Amino acid sequence: MSQIVLTAVGDLTGNARLEKDPDLTVGAEDALVRMEVSPINPVDYLFSNGYYALQPTIPAVLGSEGVGRVIEVGSAADRSLAGKRVVVLSPYEQGVWGDTVVVPTRNIVVVPEDVDAQQLSMAVVNPVTAHLMLTKYVGLEPGDWVGQTLGNSAVARSVIALAKIAGLRTLSLVRSEKAAEEARAAGGDIVLVDGDDLGDRIVAALGGDKLRLVLDGAGGGVPGTLATALEFGGTVVSYSSPTGEPPAVPLGNLVFSELAVRGFWLTNWVRSAPRAEIEKVVGDLVDLVARGVLAVPVDSTYPLDRYEEAFARNASPDRAGKVLFTFPHA
Ligand SMILES: NC(=O)c1ccc[n+]([C@@H]2O[C@H](COP(=O)([O-])OP(=O)(O)OC[C@H]3O[C@@H](n4cnc5c(N)ncnc54)[C@H](OP(=O)(O)O)[C@@H]3O)[C@@H](O)[C@H]2O)c1
Repeated sequence: MSQIVLTAVGDLTGNARLEKDPDLTVGAEDALVRMEVSPINPVDYLFSNGYYALQPTIPAVLGSEGVGRVIEVGSAADRSLAGKRVVVLSPYEQGVWGDTVVVPTRNIVVVPEDVDAQQLSMAVVNPVTAHLMLTKYVGLEPGDWVGQTLGNSAVARSVIALAKIAGLRTLSLVRSEKAAEEARAAGGDIVLVDGDDLGDRIVAALGGDKLRLVLDGAGGGVPGTLATALEFGGTVVSYSSPTGEPPAVPLGNLVFSELAVRGFWLTNWVRSAPRAEIEKVVGDLVDLVARGVLAVPVDSTYPLDRYEEAFARNASPDRAGKVLFTFPHA
């Protein structure tokens, strides 16, 4: 048995180590889960650096989501979970980079056997985020435009796929022509590369239409430019910022167009939504994963003991897709 644990707050590289024979005490309402696959996500860096809403208690087990199988349940837990294949919800209420990990049963959802484990390991954090951001804030109708930053990210790919199903149109911003090709291949309706005259190019691409919703994971001036194309009373939803800067919505647009700026954090929904709603949302998204409608490219896979190589690959500029940990019993 081994797990990757954080030994001090700081970057994953240099502050993570493989721990053999970890404590796997199963609490009354916990499940012991034998992991199949788990991705490396941006939140893993936020958590290790102490920038996340949940702070590490050292040593902290790392890993934010994944798929595995319940091999034991606690004394007060639902016995029918034993043996079931599950995905893990709610980053850093537990860590999952271990061949076997302890997870509160409230943070697992049973999933089908016949779905690809790699895609299933990425079925929660980004797809659920995309689904909720598209449905919680604005009553969107077919034909409406949704703008977004980080247009080639896993979140954005889910936004594009779910928007298509709902008959919505997407305008996605990216940082390079390579990323633009990825976003177009994922089905983005309009994909623009950040740069000179971005505001004019957005207006021209929309051809007189307005955005109804902007989803921002980038922060800073780029979502602000996107926000200038919002309709009166339109909404910006901020869900992350690699630089720490909030979305800089120009004051004139904010005030005169009476825009709304909202924040989104997945964990708030996991903690507050009725169990039936969580199972329905995750179940519907897993179904789309099973049908190949939601899919994220996989760059590479690593066993847990090659975690340093996995982190290096994840930081590589030519990475194309997610880096995943796979577990030997998978
Ligand atoms: N609020 C929530 O509950 C929630 C839930 C899920 C995800 N998130 C956040 O959503 C973001 C995307 O996650 P993901 O898994 O989809 O990521 P991902 O697939 O790994 O993609 C990362 C994206 O970030 C861009 N990027 C990296 N560094 C950047 C920088 N300094 N400035 C601007 N863009 C930068 C990348 O662009 P290039 O390809 O051009 O480098 C790429 O588009 C993360 O920040 C994550 O923490 C938040």
